[in-house]
Amino acid sequence: MNIPIKNICCIGAGYVGGPTMTMMASKCPDLIFHVVDINKKRIESWNNKDLSKLPIFEPGLEELIAKTRNKNLFFSTNIKEAIESSEIIFISVNTPTKNKGLGAGKLSDLKYVEACAREVARYSKGYTIVVEKSTLPVRTAEVIKNILNSSESNSKREEISFDVLSNPEFLAEGTAIKDLDSPDRVLIGGDNKKAMIALSDIYKAWVPEEKILFTNIWSSELAKLTSNAFLAQRISSINSISAICEVTGADVREVSRAIGKDTRIGSKFLDSGPGFGGSCFKKDILNLVYLAEYFDLHDVASFWEGVVNINNWHQRRIAEIVIRKLFGTITGKKIIVLGFAFKANTNDTRESAAIRICQDLIEEGADLIIHDPKVSPDQIEKDLKIKQISETNTNPDSLLKSQIGQWKFSKNIDIFDDAHAILVLTEWEEYKHIEWQKASKKMVKPSWVFDSRSIVNAEEVIKSGLKLWRLGDGSKTKK
Ligand code: UDX
Ligand code: ADP
Repeated sequence: MNIPIKNICCIGAGYVGGPTMTMMASKCPDLIFHVVDINKKRIESWNNKDLSKLPIFEPGLEELIAKTRNKNLFFSTNIKEAIESSEIIFISVNTPTKNKGLGAGKLSDLKYVEACAREVARYSKGYTIVVEKSTLPVRTAEVIKNILNSSESNSKREEISFDVLSNPEFLAEGTAIKDLDSPDRVLIGGDNKKAMIALSDIYKAWVPEEKILFTNIWSSELAKLTSNAFLAQRISSINSISAICEVTGADVREVSRAIGKDTRIGSKFLDSGPGFGGSCFKKDILNLVYLAEYFDLHDVASFWEGVVNINNWHQRRIAEIVIRKLFGTITGKKIIVLGFAFKANTNDTRESAAIRICQDLIEEGADLIIHDPKVSPDQIEKDLKIKQISETNTNPDSLLKSQIGQWKFSKNIDIFDDAHAILVLTEWEEYKHIEWQKASKKMVKPSWVFDSRSIVNAEEVIKSGLKLWRLGDGSKTKK
């Protein structure tokens, strides 16, 4: 007999939990979805009548929220009530990399996952299916199982029992709604077929059955880490080739196009850029590295660690190029940074290449004006760990003395007056349509455009008298 499901709870209303539950609610109008979070402000934003104020920006999300919110999708901080009433509980909380203790710098910190498991053990009633949705190190399901089965409160209540499933999320930010709507696959790992079927029944409302894969729980967890490691590896590979292109006279766009035509390689994820960011890639690879080291597979660990090392090196390389091209010094020079999000169509900045690159430029004394259509100046301040310069604190003497630069946010993109350079870091559509003739007239000569995403209109930039550096473009280096 099938397990009857009516109420579903998701703990964690973030970039994964929010859109995933919204999609499920829109596809399964007969089920009730409770999205809960300890962050009151975040829940208030999810409940904001003004849909432009949702806590995350994701194309297509506002429309789906309008269709489902307060009908069969509810956002609240009432974690107890949501757990009590639900037969399926998704854990979708954050798992940052540990900064101290065992596995520091590599292993994900499971404190939030652990806290959730304890709450589930405390409040759940009857039989409950617990689904790990957060990106987690392999064998986390075991940790969750242990907590659920050994919790004190729970031993008193013989009537409760659990199954733990792994159901990793493969959505990419910026295209989350599209990815959720037509996923390449849905992975369900577990050892109780009935529980796996109950979860797959939700997805079957819109996902073709052949795309729903059942595996054992460890394969599911490892497949998630491996997917992200393979994707990140492609980016580190092509970024390493961009450096070779620049010195040999090749053009990385041409190389990408040529290798991508090989159907065994494929054309996706071959765009050279300022280095991968996002909440998953680095964290997942480092989890893989930790796992390999733990099992004494040191060569395997160093193989994957190389992917992260190249990414760090590549981000530093971009800041160095800017400094070198501006005659080796950028102290007091105004540089316009276009884009701070880790990719276009998201307001997320976690692990964004812009963080390291801006910090390096500020440290070298640059005056940055940072523009991003979706990221707030408060978020940039948190990421850079440097306060935005205020109007009242612009004494150039004091800045020169310390040799430390400064940054300021601009909502407006018309900010090119007296700039020495423009550095494109995120591939926002609007940066493709800049009027370079106009920009050039306002800038200090010689002025540069550094395009790390290959999106600006190169011909227009050059025609307007600006110097252009494009990542991986060595075609002007060697004739
Ligand atoms: C990734 C995975 O794609 C997704 O399946 C998983 O669930 C979460 O991690 P996300 O981090 O949201 O998704 O974005 P993604 O599109 O993968 O981009 C990651 C980074 O790689 C970005 O910084 C992006 O700019 C960069 N990138 C991507 C490139 O530099 N070049 C490319 O060709 C593709
Ligand atoms: P992701 O990208 O994985 O969705 P986010 O950081 O965007 O990560 O979201 C995770 C959410 O989980 C945050 O809003 C955070 O407040 C929430 N969270 C963390 N721990 C708990 C907990 N014990 N109970 C409820 N919510 C939690």
